[in-house]
Amino acid sequence: MNRKATRDSVVFSISDLQREASQKLSTTVREYYNEGAMDLVTVKDNTAAYDRLRLRPRVCVDVAKVDASTECFGSKVAFPLGFSPAAMHKLAHKDGECGTSRAAAKFGINMLLSQYATDSIGDVTAMGAGAGNAYGMQVCLTEDPATNTRLIRDAEAAGCKSLVITVDAPALGRRLNEYRNNFSLPKHLTFPNMGADMDHSDVVTYDPRKAYDAALTWTKIRHIAATTTMDVYLKGVQTAEDALEAVRCGVAGIIVSNHGGRQVDSAVATIDALEEIVDAVQGRIQVHIDGGIRRGSDIFKALALGADHCWVGRVPIWGLAYNGEEGVSLAIQLLYDEFATTMTLMGCTKISDIKRSHLSRMGPDGGFHKLQDLPDWSSKVAGPILDVHARL
Ligand code: LAC
Repeated sequence: MNRKATRDSVVFSISDLQREASQKLSTTVREYYNEGAMDLVTVKDNTAAYDRLRLRPRVCVDVAKVDASTECFGSKVAFPLGFSPAAMHKLAHKDGECGTSRAAAKFGINMLLSQYATDSIGDVTAMGAGAGNAYGMQVCLTEDPATNTRLIRDAEAAGCKSLVITVDAPALGRRLNEYRNNFSLPKHLTFPNMGADMDHSDVVTYDPRKAYDAALTWTKIRHIAATTTMDVYLKGVQTAEDALEAVRCGVAGIIVSNHGGRQVDSAVATIDALEEIVDAVQGRIQVHIDGGIRRGSDIFKALALGADHCWVGRVPIWGLAYNGEEGVSLAIQLLYDEFATTMTLMGCTKISDIKRSHLSRMGPDGGFHKLQDLPDWSSKVAGPILDVHARL
C-alpha cells in the first residue's frame, strides 16, 4: 500500500482549500468570489450536477504508466485543466495574477487572463517566458470600440495565443452580494489592461468604455475574429443552437460556461449543457468547459462527455487567498493527483482512452444506465450544419 505524498497539513482537496481560503477573506471579498447571481441556484448546481454522473471503472488494464498530458492552444499541457478568467486576483492576495501565472507556468498549464486583472497582461505572460504554457486574454466587449481594440492589440503584443470573448454578459447579472456589500474595486488596486484614466472604484456611473455591449451579435463576433491574429474562443455558450452559430462563425472553439453562475440564475449547470453541445458540434471546433469543477473526477467526467479541455476560475483565487502563489501550486497539484488517480482507477492510460461509456446516469426508471460512446468525429467529413440543426 502506498499513499501519495501529503502536500499540506490541512488542505487535502479543493473543498478544504475553499473552506480555509474563505476564512481568510473579508465578507465582501469572500461573497464576491464565492457567490453569484440572485439565489445561487446555478452556482450550487454547477458543482452538484457532477455528482449526478457516475463512473464505470474498467479493471485489469495495464495502468502502470498513465499519461495525463494533452494539448491546448498549441501547447502541451500537464493535464486537461487551465485557469479561467476571474477578476481581481489581488483582492485575494498580493501575488495577484502574476503569482497565479507563475504557478501555472511551473506546472505546465494554460491561463486565461480576465480583462479585470489587477496585473498587466504583459507582466502576466512574462511569468511564463520559456515555460511553454500558453495564455489567452478574456474580453467582455464594451460599447467603446477603441477600448476593445486597444485590449486586443495589447493581448497580441503580449503573446496571447487566444482571445476569449465573453458572450453571456450583454449586461451584468444581478449579484445580490455586490449590492449588499456595495462592492467595487478598492482604491489601492487598478485594472492596468483597461486604461489608467478610468475610475474603476465607481461601478455605477455610465461610461461607454466600461459599459458591456448589449448589442453584441454574431456579426460583430465575425468582424472581431477577422481583425485579430489570435484564435477566437467564445465563452458563455450554453446551448446546441448557439454552439452551431459559433461553428458557422468559424471561431476556433467555445467554452461552455455560465460565468460561474454569476449571470442568469437558474441557467443549466455546464456539465448538463455539455452533452447537447458536443453532439451538435461534432468535433468541428474545440469544446471546452468551466463551472463547478472541484475534483479530478469532475475533469474526467467532462472529458468523458466530450469536452476537449476544462477550466477553473475560483480555484486559483482560493489558492491565492490560502497561501499566495504556493497555494495556487497546491491547488493544481491536488487536481493533477486526483485526475491521474481517477484515470488509473478507471483503466485509462491516456486522454484519448476516456469515453462516454465510462459514465452512467440515472434514467426515468431510477436505475443507472451506461452512456453510449460518441462516434469518431475525426474520421467524418464535416457534414452540412443545417442537417444537424434539423435534429435539434
Ligand atoms: C464577474 C465579472 C467581472 O463575474 O465578469 O465578476
